[in-house]
Amino acid sequence: MSKQTEKIKDLVAKRELARLGGGQKAIDKQHARGKYTARERIEMLVDKDSFEEYDMFKLHRCHNFGMEKKQYLGDGVVAGSATIDGRLVYVYAQDFTVNGGSLSETMAQKMCKIMDMAMQNGAPVIGMNDSGGARIQEGISALAGYGEIFERNILASGVVPQISMIMGPCAGGAVYSPALTDFIVMTEGTSYMFLTGPKVVKTVTGEDIDSEHLGGASVHASKSGVTSFTAKTEEDAMELIKKLLGYLPSNNTEEAPRVECNDPIDRKEDLLNDILPDDPNKAYDMYKVITAITDNNEFFEVQAKFAKNIITGFARFNGQSVGIVANQPSAYAGVLDVNASRKGARFVRFCDAFNIPIVSLVDVPGFLPGTGQEYNAVILHGAQLLYAYGEATVPKITITLRKSYGGSHIVMGCKQLRSDLNFAWPTAEIAVMGASGAVAVLCAKDAKKIKEEGGDVKAFLAEKEDEYTETFANPYQAAQFGYIDDVIEPRNTRFRICRGLAQLASKRQSLPAKKHGCMPM
Ligand code: HXC
Repeated sequence: MSKQTEKIKDLVAKRELARLGGGQKAIDKQHARGKYTARERIEMLVDKDSFEEYDMFKLHRCHNFGMEKKQYLGDGVVAGSATIDGRLVYVYAQDFTVNGGSLSETMAQKMCKIMDMAMQNGAPVIGMNDSGGARIQEGISALAGYGEIFERNILASGVVPQISMIMGPCAGGAVYSPALTDFIVMTEGTSYMFLTGPKVVKTVTGEDIDSEHLGGASVHASKSGVTSFTAKTEEDAMELIKKLLGYLPSNNTEEAPRVECNDPIDRKEDLLNDILPDDPNKAYDMYKVITAITDNNEFFEVQAKFAKNIITGFARFNGQSVGIVANQPSAYAGVLDVNASRKGARFVRFCDAFNIPIVSLVDVPGFLPGTGQEYNAVILHGAQLLYAYGEATVPKITITLRKSYGGSHIVMGCKQLRSDLNFAWPTAEIAVMGASGAVAVLCAKDAKKIKEEGGDVKAFLAEKEDEYTETFANPYQAAQFGYIDDVIEPRNTRFRICRGLAQLASKRQSLPAKKHGCMPM
Protein backbone atom coordinates (compact mmCIF):
# COMPACT_ATOMS: atom_id res chain seq x y z
CA MET A 1 0.00 0.00 0.00
CA SER A 2 1.44 3.39 -0.99
CA LYS A 3 1.89 6.06 1.68
CA GLN A 4 -0.79 8.12 -0.01
CA THR A 5 -3.28 5.22 0.03
CA GLU A 6 -2.46 4.62 3.68
CA LYS A 7 -3.15 8.27 4.50
CA ILE A 8 -6.44 8.20 2.61
CA LYS A 9 -7.43 5.08 4.53
CA ASP A 10 -6.57 6.85 7.73
CA LEU A 11 -8.76 9.80 6.69
CA VAL A 12 -11.69 7.49 5.93
CA ALA A 13 -11.27 5.79 9.33
CA LYS A 14 -11.13 9.15 11.08
CA ARG A 15 -14.32 10.27 9.34
CA GLU A 16 -16.05 7.07 10.35
CA LEU A 17 -15.02 7.61 13.94
CA ALA A 18 -16.22 11.22 13.87
CA ARG A 19 -19.58 10.07 12.51
CA LEU A 20 -20.00 7.92 15.62
CA GLY A 21 -20.09 11.01 17.85
CA GLY A 22 -20.08 9.90 21.48
CA GLY A 23 -20.05 6.21 20.49
CA GLN A 24 -22.58 3.48 19.69
CA LYS A 25 -23.72 3.10 23.30
CA ALA A 26 -24.57 6.78 23.55
CA ILE A 27 -26.28 6.66 20.14
CA ASP A 28 -28.42 3.71 21.30
CA LYS A 29 -29.36 5.68 24.41
CA GLN A 30 -30.36 8.65 22.26
CA HIS A 31 -32.52 6.41 20.06
CA ALA A 32 -34.08 4.75 23.11
CA ARG A 33 -35.25 8.20 24.20
CA GLY A 34 -37.10 8.56 20.90
CA LYS A 35 -34.54 11.04 19.56
CA TYR A 36 -32.35 11.06 16.47
CA THR A 37 -28.64 11.84 16.46
CA ALA A 38 -27.24 15.13 15.20
CA ARG A 39 -26.19 13.70 11.83
CA GLU A 40 -29.48 11.86 11.34
CA ARG A 41 -31.32 15.10 12.00
CA ILE A 42 -29.33 17.04 9.45
CA GLU A 43 -29.85 14.31 6.89
CA MET A 44 -33.61 14.44 7.48
CA LEU A 45 -33.74 18.21 7.02
CA VAL A 46 -31.59 18.98 4.00
CA ASP A 47 -31.61 17.96 0.32
CA LYS A 48 -30.09 14.52 -0.24
CA ASP A 49 -26.27 14.56 -0.32
CA SER A 50 -26.16 18.36 -0.07
CA PHE A 51 -24.55 18.56 3.38
CA GLU A 52 -21.00 19.88 3.42
CA GLU A 53 -19.54 19.38 6.88
CA TYR A 54 -16.87 21.62 8.38
CA ASP A 55 -14.58 21.11 11.38
CA MET A 56 -15.15 17.39 11.64
CA PHE A 57 -11.79 16.97 13.33
CA LYS A 58 -12.07 19.74 15.87
CA LEU A 59 -11.28 18.78 19.47
CA HIS A 60 -11.91 20.50 22.77
CA ARG A 61 -8.93 21.78 24.74
CA CYS A 62 -10.03 21.12 28.29
CA HIS A 63 -8.13 19.05 30.86
CA ASN A 64 -10.25 19.70 33.95
CA PHE A 65 -12.29 16.96 35.66
CA GLY A 66 -11.01 14.15 33.43
CA MET A 67 -12.06 15.84 30.19
CA GLU A 68 -8.99 14.54 28.35
CA LYS A 69 -10.73 11.15 28.42
CA LYS A 70 -13.93 12.60 26.94
CA GLN A 71 -12.45 13.56 23.58
CA TYR A 72 -14.57 12.92 20.46
CA LEU A 73 -13.72 14.02 16.92
CA GLY A 74 -15.72 17.10 16.02
CA ASP A 75 -16.72 17.63 19.67
CA GLY A 76 -20.42 18.09 20.49
CA VAL A 77 -21.77 19.75 17.36
CA VAL A 78 -22.05 18.89 13.68
CA ALA A 79 -21.96 21.98 11.46
CA GLY A 80 -21.90 22.92 7.81
CA SER A 81 -23.77 24.13 4.74
CA ALA A 82 -26.46 22.40 2.71
CA THR A 83 -29.47 23.13 0.54
CA ILE A 84 -33.17 22.85 1.30
CA ASP A 85 -35.38 22.80 -1.81
CA GLY A 86 -32.26 23.87 -3.68
CA ARG A 87 -31.67 26.98 -1.54
CA LEU A 88 -28.47 27.47 0.47
CA VAL A 89 -28.73 27.16 4.27
CA TYR A 90 -26.26 26.82 7.12
CA VAL A 91 -26.99 24.19 9.72
CA TYR A 92 -25.64 23.04 13.04
CA ALA A 93 -26.88 20.19 15.22
CA GLN A 94 -25.68 19.75 18.77
CA ASP A 95 -24.75 16.17 19.54
CA PHE A 96 -26.17 15.04 22.87
CA THR A 97 -24.13 11.82 22.64
CA VAL A 98 -20.99 13.91 23.20
CA ASN A 99 -20.94 15.21 26.77
CA GLY A 100 -24.66 15.94 26.66
CA GLY A 101 -24.18 18.41 23.82
CA SER A 102 -22.77 20.79 26.42
CA LEU A 103 -21.13 23.81 24.84
CA SER A 104 -17.35 23.96 24.77
CA GLU A 105 -15.17 26.79 23.55
CA THR A 106 -14.39 24.83 20.36
CA MET A 107 -18.03 23.96 19.71
CA ALA A 108 -18.81 27.66 19.90
CA GLN A 109 -16.08 28.29 17.32
CA LYS A 110 -17.69 25.78 14.96
CA MET A 111 -21.11 27.35 15.35
CA CYS A 112 -19.73 30.88 14.96
CA LYS A 113 -17.90 29.87 11.79
CA ILE A 114 -21.06 28.80 10.01
CA MET A 115 -22.97 31.82 11.33
CA ASP A 116 -20.28 34.07 9.84
CA MET A 117 -20.53 32.20 6.54
CA ALA A 118 -24.32 32.55 6.57
CA MET A 119 -24.02 36.30 7.06
CA GLN A 120 -21.41 36.65 4.35
CA ASN A 121 -23.36 34.58 1.83
CA GLY A 122 -26.84 35.74 2.81
CA ALA A 123 -28.41 32.42 3.81
CA PRO A 124 -30.60 31.29 6.74
CA VAL A 125 -29.11 29.60 9.80
CA ILE A 126 -30.90 26.60 11.28
CA GLY A 127 -29.70 25.44 14.68
CA MET A 128 -30.74 22.11 16.19
CA ASN A 129 -30.36 22.35 19.94
CA ASP A 130 -29.97 19.41 22.27
CA SER A 131 -27.62 20.57 24.99
CA GLY A 132 -27.07 20.84 28.72
CA GLY A 133 -25.78 24.39 28.29
CA ALA A 134 -22.29 25.68 29.06
CA ARG A 135 -19.78 22.85 29.54
CA ILE A 136 -19.19 23.06 33.24
CA GLN A 137 -15.62 21.69 33.09
CA GLU A 138 -14.54 24.55 30.82
CA GLY A 139 -15.69 27.35 33.10
CA ILE A 140 -15.37 30.83 31.66
CA SER A 141 -14.21 29.56 28.24
CA ALA A 142 -17.62 27.94 27.70
CA LEU A 143 -19.39 31.11 28.83
CA ALA A 144 -17.22 33.17 26.48
CA GLY A 145 -18.25 30.76 23.71
CA TYR A 146 -21.89 31.58 24.37
CA GLY A 147 -21.05 35.28 24.33
CA GLU A 148 -19.56 34.86 20.85
CA ILE A 149 -22.65 32.98 19.64
CA PHE A 150 -25.10 35.49 21.11
CA GLU A 151 -23.25 38.40 19.51
CA ARG A 152 -23.58 36.71 16.12
CA ASN A 153 -27.27 35.99 16.74
CA ILE A 154 -27.75 39.68 17.43
CA LEU A 155 -25.77 40.86 14.40
CA ALA A 156 -27.55 38.38 12.13
CA SER A 157 -30.97 39.47 13.41
CA GLY A 158 -32.85 41.11 10.53
CA VAL A 159 -30.10 40.15 8.05
CA VAL A 160 -30.65 36.40 7.59
CA PRO A 161 -33.52 34.33 8.97
CA GLN A 162 -32.47 32.37 12.08
CA ILE A 163 -34.44 29.29 13.06
CA SER A 164 -33.96 27.19 16.20
CA MET A 165 -35.11 23.63 16.64
CA ILE A 166 -35.28 22.40 20.22
CA MET A 167 -34.89 18.64 20.21
CA GLY A 168 -33.88 17.68 23.73
CA PRO A 169 -33.35 19.15 27.17
CA CYS A 170 -31.95 22.66 26.64
CA ALA A 171 -30.73 24.66 29.59
CA GLY A 172 -28.80 27.84 30.34
CA GLY A 173 -27.08 29.32 27.32
CA ALA A 174 -28.70 26.66 25.14
CA VAL A 175 -32.00 28.53 25.45
CA TYR A 176 -30.71 32.09 25.17
CA SER A 177 -29.32 31.61 21.69
CA PRO A 178 -32.67 30.27 20.40
CA ALA A 179 -34.41 33.15 22.18
CA LEU A 180 -32.38 35.56 20.04
CA THR A 181 -33.50 33.88 16.80
CA ASP A 182 -36.64 34.45 14.74
CA PHE A 183 -38.50 31.17 15.08
CA ILE A 184 -38.37 28.28 17.53
CA VAL A 185 -39.87 24.84 17.03
CA MET A 186 -40.03 22.39 19.95
CA THR A 187 -40.71 18.66 19.70
CA GLU A 188 -43.52 17.50 21.99
CA GLY A 189 -42.56 15.29 24.92
CA THR A 190 -38.83 15.21 24.15
CA SER A 191 -37.71 18.81 24.32
CA TYR A 192 -37.48 21.25 27.20
CA MET A 193 -36.30 24.82 27.56
CA PHE A 194 -35.41 26.37 30.88
CA LEU A 195 -32.76 28.61 32.33
CA THR A 196 -32.26 26.12 35.16
CA GLY A 197 -33.59 22.59 35.40
CA PRO A 198 -36.01 21.14 38.00
CA LYS A 199 -33.21 20.22 40.45
CA VAL A 200 -31.90 23.79 40.64
CA VAL A 201 -35.45 25.13 40.90
CA LYS A 202 -36.07 22.84 43.89
CA THR A 203 -32.84 23.96 45.57
CA VAL A 204 -33.36 27.68 45.06
CA THR A 205 -37.11 28.16 45.42
CA GLY A 206 -38.27 24.89 46.95
CA GLU A 207 -40.72 24.41 44.07
CA ASP A 208 -41.34 20.81 43.02
CA ILE A 209 -41.81 20.68 39.28
CA ASP A 210 -40.92 18.29 36.48
CA SER A 211 -39.25 19.19 33.18
CA GLU A 212 -42.47 19.01 31.16
CA HIS A 213 -44.35 21.45 33.38
CA LEU A 214 -41.36 23.72 33.80
CA GLY A 215 -40.36 24.05 30.18
CA GLY A 216 -42.05 21.50 27.91
CA ALA A 217 -43.34 22.27 24.43
CA SER A 218 -46.91 22.80 25.58
CA VAL A 219 -45.88 25.29 28.30
CA HIS A 220 -43.83 27.38 25.87
CA ALA A 221 -46.45 27.19 23.13
CA SER A 222 -49.42 28.27 25.23
CA LYS A 223 -48.20 30.04 28.39
CA SER A 224 -44.89 31.80 27.75
CA GLY A 225 -45.06 32.18 23.97
CA VAL A 226 -41.35 31.32 23.78
CA THR A 227 -41.82 28.78 21.00
CA SER A 228 -43.34 29.62 17.63
CA PHE A 229 -44.28 26.03 16.78
CA THR A 230 -44.52 22.57 18.29
CA ALA A 231 -44.17 19.29 16.42
CA LYS A 232 -45.30 15.83 17.44
CA THR A 233 -42.19 14.15 16.05
CA GLU A 234 -38.77 15.19 14.82
CA GLU A 235 -39.89 14.28 11.29
CA ASP A 236 -42.84 16.68 11.62
CA ALA A 237 -40.50 19.38 12.90
CA MET A 238 -38.31 19.03 9.79
CA GLU A 239 -41.32 19.29 7.45
CA LEU A 240 -42.50 22.35 9.32
CA ILE A 241 -39.13 24.09 8.92
CA LYS A 242 -39.03 23.34 5.19
CA LYS A 243 -42.51 24.79 4.80
CA LEU A 244 -41.59 27.88 6.83
CA LEU A 245 -38.47 28.50 4.72
CA GLY A 246 -40.67 28.51 1.61
CA TYR A 247 -42.31 31.72 2.86
CA LEU A 248 -39.03 33.47 3.66
CA PRO A 249 -36.34 35.19 1.61
CA SER A 250 -32.77 34.00 2.16
CA ASN A 251 -31.74 37.40 3.47
CA ASN A 252 -32.95 40.96 3.96
CA THR A 253 -31.91 42.14 0.48
CA GLU A 254 -34.07 39.56 -1.25
CA GLU A 255 -37.76 38.91 -1.66
CA ALA A 256 -39.37 35.65 -0.58
CA PRO A 257 -39.57 33.14 -3.43
CA ARG A 258 -42.69 33.56 -5.55
CA VAL A 259 -44.54 30.39 -6.33
CA GLU A 260 -46.70 29.75 -9.33
CA CYS A 261 -50.34 30.45 -8.51
CA ASN A 262 -53.22 28.60 -10.13
CA ASP A 263 -55.82 30.14 -7.85
CA PRO A 264 -57.49 33.02 -9.80
CA ILE A 265 -56.83 36.38 -8.18
CA ASP A 266 -60.41 37.46 -8.92
CA ARG A 267 -61.93 34.42 -7.23
CA LYS A 268 -65.03 35.73 -5.45
CA GLU A 269 -65.92 34.17 -2.12
CA ASP A 270 -69.66 34.50 -1.61
CA LEU A 271 -69.45 33.03 1.89
CA LEU A 272 -67.76 36.25 3.01
CA ASN A 273 -70.88 38.25 2.12
CA ASP A 274 -72.74 36.23 4.71
CA ILE A 275 -70.16 35.49 7.40
CA LEU A 276 -70.89 38.17 10.00
CA PRO A 277 -73.63 37.51 12.58
CA ASP A 278 -76.40 40.13 12.73
CA ASP A 279 -75.64 40.70 16.39
CA PRO A 280 -72.36 42.67 16.54
CA ASN A 281 -71.58 41.05 19.88
CA LYS A 282 -71.65 37.55 18.43
CA ALA A 283 -68.43 35.86 17.41
CA TYR A 284 -67.39 34.24 14.14
CA ASP A 285 -64.23 32.43 13.15
CA MET A 286 -61.57 34.60 11.53
CA TYR A 287 -59.75 31.50 10.22
CA LYS A 288 -62.66 31.08 7.79
CA VAL A 289 -62.05 34.57 6.43
CA ILE A 290 -58.30 34.00 6.13
CA THR A 291 -58.54 30.72 4.26
CA ALA A 292 -61.30 32.08 2.04
CA ILE A 293 -59.03 34.77 0.62
CA THR A 294 -55.54 33.21 0.45
CA ASP A 295 -54.05 31.23 -2.46
CA ASN A 296 -55.44 27.68 -2.42
CA ASN A 297 -57.03 28.46 0.97
CA GLU A 298 -53.65 27.87 2.66
CA PHE A 299 -52.43 29.45 5.87
CA PHE A 300 -49.24 28.68 7.79
CA GLU A 301 -49.81 29.81 11.34
CA VAL A 302 -47.13 31.07 13.74
CA GLN A 303 -47.69 30.86 17.53
CA ALA A 304 -51.06 29.16 17.03
CA LYS A 305 -51.56 28.23 20.67
CA PHE A 306 -50.43 31.51 22.25
CA ALA A 307 -52.67 34.60 22.59
CA LYS A 308 -55.39 33.12 20.42
CA ASN A 309 -57.17 36.48 20.31
CA ILE A 310 -54.73 37.50 17.58
CA ILE A 311 -53.77 35.30 14.65
CA THR A 312 -50.37 35.58 12.95
CA GLY A 313 -48.97 33.58 10.08
CA PHE A 314 -47.90 33.36 6.46
CA ALA A 315 -49.97 32.90 3.35
CA ARG A 316 -49.67 33.73 -0.34
CA PHE A 317 -51.59 36.06 -2.60
CA ASN A 318 -51.02 35.45 -6.30
CA GLY A 319 -47.93 33.44 -5.32
CA GLN A 320 -46.41 36.21 -3.19
CA SER A 321 -45.53 35.51 0.44
CA VAL A 322 -47.45 37.73 2.87
CA GLY A 323 -47.69 38.03 6.66
CA ILE A 324 -51.25 38.02 8.00
CA VAL A 325 -52.20 39.63 11.30
CA ALA A 326 -55.86 39.18 12.26
CA ASN A 327 -57.99 39.70 15.34
CA GLN A 328 -59.96 36.58 16.29
CA PRO A 329 -63.51 37.47 17.44
CA SER A 330 -64.06 33.91 18.68
CA ALA A 331 -61.24 34.19 21.27
CA TYR A 332 -61.92 36.80 23.98
CA ALA A 333 -63.86 38.77 21.34
CA GLY A 334 -60.55 39.52 19.61
CA VAL A 335 -59.55 42.00 22.30
CA LEU A 336 -55.94 43.19 22.40
CA ASP A 337 -53.99 42.42 25.57
CA VAL A 338 -50.36 42.11 26.66
CA ASN A 339 -49.73 38.74 25.01
CA ALA A 340 -51.60 39.54 21.80
CA SER A 341 -49.64 42.78 21.49
CA ARG A 342 -46.28 41.03 22.03
CA LYS A 343 -47.18 38.32 19.55
CA GLY A 344 -48.37 40.75 16.90
CA ALA A 345 -45.43 43.12 17.32
CA ARG A 346 -42.85 40.38 16.99
CA PHE A 347 -44.47 39.06 13.82
CA VAL A 348 -44.90 42.47 12.18
CA ARG A 349 -41.24 43.27 12.87
CA PHE A 350 -40.07 40.02 11.36
CA CYS A 351 -42.10 40.62 8.20
CA ASP A 352 -40.81 44.15 7.91
CA ALA A 353 -37.18 43.06 8.34
CA PHE A 354 -37.52 40.50 5.57
CA ASN A 355 -39.55 42.39 2.94
CA ILE A 356 -42.76 40.46 3.52
CA PRO A 357 -45.90 42.61 3.02
CA ILE A 358 -48.41 42.68 5.87
CA VAL A 359 -52.15 42.15 5.46
CA SER A 360 -54.19 42.99 8.57
CA LEU A 361 -57.76 41.79 9.09
CA VAL A 362 -59.35 43.93 11.76
CA ASP A 363 -62.23 43.17 14.09
CA VAL A 364 -61.17 44.45 17.48
CA PRO A 365 -63.32 45.86 20.30
CA GLY A 366 -60.36 47.53 22.06
CA PHE A 367 -57.71 46.82 24.65
CA LEU A 368 -58.57 44.59 27.61
CA PRO A 369 -59.08 46.81 30.69
CA GLY A 370 -58.18 46.02 34.31
CA THR A 371 -55.34 45.65 36.80
CA GLY A 372 -54.24 42.29 35.38
CA GLN A 373 -53.30 44.07 32.19
CA GLU A 374 -52.17 47.40 33.61
CA TYR A 375 -49.80 45.78 36.14
CA ASN A 376 -48.29 43.76 33.32
CA ALA A 377 -47.57 46.89 31.31
CA VAL A 378 -50.27 46.68 28.64
CA ILE A 379 -49.41 50.31 27.95
CA LEU A 380 -45.87 49.38 26.91
CA HIS A 381 -46.83 46.19 25.09
CA GLY A 382 -49.69 47.86 23.25
CA ALA A 383 -47.23 50.59 22.28
CA GLN A 384 -44.89 47.87 21.08
CA LEU A 385 -47.45 46.71 18.51
CA LEU A 386 -48.18 50.30 17.58
CA TYR A 387 -44.47 50.95 17.13
CA ALA A 388 -43.97 47.83 15.02
CA TYR A 389 -46.77 48.79 12.64
CA GLY A 390 -45.73 52.43 12.47
CA GLU A 391 -42.10 51.56 11.78
CA ALA A 392 -42.81 48.93 9.13
CA THR A 393 -42.09 50.14 5.61
CA VAL A 394 -43.15 47.01 3.72
CA PRO A 395 -46.46 47.17 1.80
CA LYS A 396 -49.29 47.25 4.33
CA ILE A 397 -52.93 46.53 3.50
CA THR A 398 -55.60 46.73 6.20
CA ILE A 399 -59.12 45.37 5.86
CA THR A 400 -61.60 46.37 8.56
CA LEU A 401 -64.36 43.78 8.78
CA ARG A 402 -66.34 44.92 11.76
CA LYS A 403 -65.23 46.63 14.98
CA SER A 404 -62.28 48.97 15.01
CA TYR A 405 -62.49 51.03 18.15
CA GLY A 406 -60.24 53.56 19.83
CA GLY A 407 -56.59 52.74 20.45
CA SER A 408 -56.94 49.36 18.87
CA HIS A 409 -58.11 51.01 15.64
CA ILE A 410 -54.91 53.04 15.53
CA VAL A 411 -52.69 50.11 16.47
CA MET A 412 -53.99 47.66 13.87
CA GLY A 413 -52.49 49.29 10.79
CA CYS A 414 -54.50 52.48 10.44
CA LYS A 415 -53.85 55.03 7.69
CA GLN A 416 -51.89 57.35 9.95
CA LEU A 417 -49.38 54.58 10.70
CA ARG A 418 -48.46 54.70 7.03
CA SER A 419 -50.66 51.85 5.96
CA ASP A 420 -50.82 51.91 2.15
CA LEU A 421 -54.31 50.64 1.42
CA ASN A 422 -57.14 50.64 3.93
CA PHE A 423 -60.31 48.91 2.87
CA ALA A 424 -63.44 48.38 4.94
CA TRP A 425 -66.38 46.06 4.60
CA PRO A 426 -69.76 47.87 4.75
CA THR A 427 -70.19 46.29 8.19
CA ALA A 428 -67.17 48.14 9.62
CA GLU A 429 -67.64 50.20 12.77
CA ILE A 430 -64.80 52.68 13.06
CA ALA A 431 -65.24 54.82 16.17
CA VAL A 432 -63.64 55.99 19.39
CA MET A 433 -65.52 53.33 21.35
CA GLY A 434 -68.61 51.08 21.30
CA ALA A 435 -72.11 52.54 21.60
CA SER A 436 -72.90 51.63 25.22
CA GLY A 437 -69.55 52.93 26.54
CA ALA A 438 -69.82 56.14 24.54
CA VAL A 439 -73.41 56.88 25.61
CA ALA A 440 -72.56 56.18 29.25
CA VAL A 441 -69.97 58.96 29.08
CA LEU A 442 -71.78 61.43 26.84
CA CYS A 443 -75.25 61.18 28.35
CA ALA A 444 -74.47 60.62 32.05
CA LYS A 445 -75.88 64.00 33.17
CA ASP A 446 -79.05 63.72 31.07
CA ALA A 447 -79.62 60.15 32.27
CA LYS A 448 -79.26 61.28 35.89
CA LYS A 449 -81.78 64.08 35.33
CA ILE A 450 -84.29 61.72 33.67
CA LYS A 451 -83.91 59.31 36.58
CA GLU A 452 -84.54 62.07 39.12
CA GLU A 453 -87.65 63.12 37.20
CA GLY A 454 -88.89 59.48 37.19
CA GLY A 455 -88.41 59.09 33.42
CA ASP A 456 -87.47 55.94 31.45
CA VAL A 457 -83.65 55.98 31.58
CA LYS A 458 -83.35 52.66 29.76
CA ALA A 459 -85.38 53.88 26.79
CA PHE A 460 -83.42 57.15 26.74
CA LEU A 461 -80.06 55.34 26.70
CA ALA A 462 -81.27 52.90 24.03
CA GLU A 463 -82.34 55.81 21.83
CA LYS A 464 -78.97 57.52 22.29
CA GLU A 465 -77.12 54.28 21.54
CA ASP A 466 -79.10 53.95 18.30
CA GLU A 467 -78.17 57.52 17.42
CA TYR A 468 -74.51 56.82 18.16
CA THR A 469 -74.59 53.60 16.14
CA GLU A 470 -76.23 55.37 13.23
CA THR A 471 -73.58 58.12 13.31
CA PHE A 472 -70.43 56.11 14.01
CA ALA A 473 -70.96 52.35 13.55
CA ASN A 474 -70.15 52.43 9.86
CA PRO A 475 -67.13 52.89 7.63
CA TYR A 476 -68.39 56.01 5.89
CA GLN A 477 -67.27 58.60 8.43
CA ALA A 478 -63.69 57.30 8.09
CA ALA A 479 -64.12 57.07 4.30
CA GLN A 480 -65.39 60.66 4.24
CA PHE A 481 -62.05 61.78 5.68
CA GLY A 482 -60.01 59.52 3.38
CA TYR A 483 -58.86 57.30 6.26
CA ILE A 484 -60.49 54.39 4.45
CA ASP A 485 -59.55 54.21 0.76
CA ASP A 486 -62.58 52.23 -0.27
CA VAL A 487 -65.55 50.37 1.13
CA ILE A 488 -65.57 46.97 -0.54
CA GLU A 489 -67.90 44.04 -0.94
CA PRO A 490 -66.57 41.25 1.31
CA ARG A 491 -66.51 38.66 -1.48
CA ASN A 492 -64.09 40.86 -3.44
CA THR A 493 -61.53 40.96 -0.61
CA ARG A 494 -59.07 38.53 -2.22
CA PHE A 495 -59.11 40.41 -5.50
CA ARG A 496 -58.56 43.81 -3.85
CA ILE A 497 -55.65 42.46 -1.80
CA CYS A 498 -54.01 40.81 -4.83
CA ARG A 499 -54.36 43.94 -6.92
CA GLY A 500 -53.17 46.11 -4.06
CA LEU A 501 -50.05 43.99 -3.58
CA ALA A 502 -49.28 44.19 -7.29
CA GLN A 503 -49.53 47.95 -7.12
CA LEU A 504 -47.30 48.11 -4.05
CA ALA A 505 -44.60 45.81 -5.43
CA SER A 506 -42.36 48.78 -6.17
CA LYS A 507 -43.05 50.57 -2.88
CA ARG A 508 -40.08 52.45 -1.46
CA GLN A 509 -40.34 54.09 1.93
CA SER A 510 -37.65 54.97 4.42
CA LEU A 511 -37.26 55.99 8.05
CA PRO A 512 -35.37 59.03 9.37
CA ALA A 513 -31.62 58.35 9.71
CA LYS A 514 -30.87 57.06 13.19
CA LYS A 515 -28.82 54.39 14.93
CA HIS A 516 -31.98 52.61 16.03
CA GLY A 517 -35.26 53.51 17.65
CA CYS A 518 -36.08 52.77 21.29
CA MET A 519 -38.98 50.38 20.98
CA PRO A 520 -41.15 50.15 24.10
CA MET A 521 -40.80 46.66 25.59
C1 HXC B 1 -20.89 19.27 31.15
C2 HXC B 1 -22.79 18.02 30.94
C3 HXC B 1 -23.59 19.19 31.06
C4 HXC B 1 -22.92 20.44 31.23
C5 HXC B 1 -24.89 17.50 30.79
N1 HXC B 1 -23.62 17.02 30.78
N2 HXC B 1 -24.88 18.83 30.97
N3 HXC B 1 -21.45 18.07 30.99
N4 HXC B 1 -21.58 20.44 31.27
N5 HXC B 1 -23.59 21.58 31.31
C6 HXC B 1 -23.22 15.64 30.61
C7 HXC B 1 -23.54 14.77 31.81
O1 HXC B 1 -22.53 14.87 32.79
C8 HXC B 1 -23.56 13.40 31.16
O2 HXC B 1 -22.21 13.01 30.95
C9 HXC B 1 -24.14 13.68 29.79
O3 HXC B 1 -23.93 15.07 29.55
C10 HXC B 1 -25.62 13.40 29.71
O4 HXC B 1 -26.27 14.10 30.76
P1 HXC B 1 -27.33 13.40 31.75
O5 HXC B 1 -27.47 14.27 32.93
O6 HXC B 1 -26.94 11.99 31.95
O7 HXC B 1 -28.64 13.44 30.85
P2 HXC B 1 -30.13 13.75 31.28
O8 HXC B 1 -30.48 12.93 32.47
O9 HXC B 1 -30.95 13.58 30.05
O10 HXC B 1 -30.17 15.26 31.71
C11 HXC B 1 -29.92 16.26 30.75
C12 HXC B 1 -29.84 17.67 31.45
C13 HXC B 1 -28.88 17.55 32.67
C14 HXC B 1 -31.25 18.04 31.91
C15 HXC B 1 -29.39 18.65 30.40
O11 HXC B 1 -27.66 16.93 32.24
C16 HXC B 1 -28.59 18.87 33.26
O12 HXC B 1 -29.39 19.37 34.06
N6 HXC B 1 -27.42 19.45 32.92
C17 HXC B 1 -27.04 20.74 33.47
C18 HXC B 1 -27.97 21.83 32.94
C19 HXC B 1 -27.60 23.21 33.39
O13 HXC B 1 -27.88 23.61 34.52
N7 HXC B 1 -26.93 23.97 32.52
C20 HXC B 1 -26.61 25.31 32.76
C21 HXC B 1 -25.17 25.49 32.49
S1 HXC B 1 -24.83 27.18 32.80
P3 HXC B 1 -21.76 11.48 31.06
O14 HXC B 1 -20.30 11.54 30.76
O15 HXC B 1 -22.11 11.05 32.43
O16 HXC B 1 -22.56 10.76 30.00
C22 HXC B 1 -25.06 28.00 31.35
C23 HXC B 1 -24.80 29.44 31.47
C24 HXC B 1 -24.87 30.16 30.17
O17 HXC B 1 -25.38 27.44 30.37
C25 HXC B 1 -25.35 31.52 30.43
C26 HXC B 1 -25.64 32.26 29.20
C27 HXC B 1 -26.46 33.48 29.46
